[in-house]
Amino acid sequence: MPQLAYVDGRFLALSEAGVSVEDRGLQFADAIYEVAAVMNGALLDWPQHLARMRRNLAALFIDLAMSDAALTAIAGRLLRANAQRDALLYLQVTRGTARRDHPFPKAARATVIMTVRRFDFRQRVAQQRSGIAVITVNDMRWRRVDLKTTGLLANVLAKQDARAAGAFEAWLIGADDMVHEGASTNAWIVKAGRIITHPLSESILPGIARASLIRLARGAQIPVVERAFSLAEALAADEALLTSTTAPLLPVVRIDSVAVGNGTPGPVAARLAALVWDDIAAQTGWRP
Ligand SMILES: Cc1ncc(COP(=O)(O)O)c(C=O)c1O
Repeated sequence: MPQLAYVDGRFLALSEAGVSVEDRGLQFADAIYEVAAVMNGALLDWPQHLARMRRNLAALFIDLAMSDAALTAIAGRLLRANAQRDALLYLQVTRGTARRDHPFPKAARATVIMTVRRFDFRQRVAQQRSGIAVITVNDMRWRRVDLKTTGLLANVLAKQDARAAGAFEAWLIGADDMVHEGASTNAWIVKAGRIITHPLSESILPGIARASLIRLARGAQIPVVERAFSLAEALAADEALLTSTTAPLLPVVRIDSVAVGNGTPGPVAARLAALVWDDIAAQTGWRP
């Protein structure tokens, strides 16, 4: 059975699905997106993803004449058609198709694209045991990275640097010398039992997994401090970790080849990971 994609009102074989070459998502990255986890056939944190998508659309003045219920119905149909139990759901909304010109087109209608792809969350359980390495690179992105747009070239280059160095992730260091976040993950350190992550601002993406971890940690009386931290502070931290939809919680055991703590996953990361997996199990029934 061919994999199906949804594009602009139609369900098509993925290999046949496409948008116009004049779509503004292609021409200008004039588009926002969401990536949601599907575990055990159930969408994780879906209302939070829809809410963030609406905030991004509003911030960029992209009109989407489709309700959350309609988007949810399309997602459900795609998941059923593709028979996916553990997967990633990609949703993109572009400003639509129009003759190439920078100002907003007068008559364009937003393009909605949804795809699903199988994803193995079990690999994360193994990586959680070993921990992962990150490198650091300069944060070369524009100044509104709180908006989840498809303009990800700086993130792509950073991630490629990480892969070339044999690392899982690249931490992006701002002109303020602070660790902003990873190329596709939020960044955290642990010091004296407190977990520390960059505050919400225009310099980081407000991750759904980040918000979940703050809620879960506070619920378990683990102190959370939302403040910027430097690379020097990260190198001297007791533990470090990262979070995202595709990597719910992974311990960072090396930063630029320097061991964090004793170079193995620490007890706070283990406790937080247990809270995260419990929350996932409560929502979806999926267990590590
Ligand atoms: C730059 C960046 N930061 C953080 C995240 C994590 O966000 P979420 O937890 O919503 O997946 C992502 C996810 O793609 C990202 O691209």
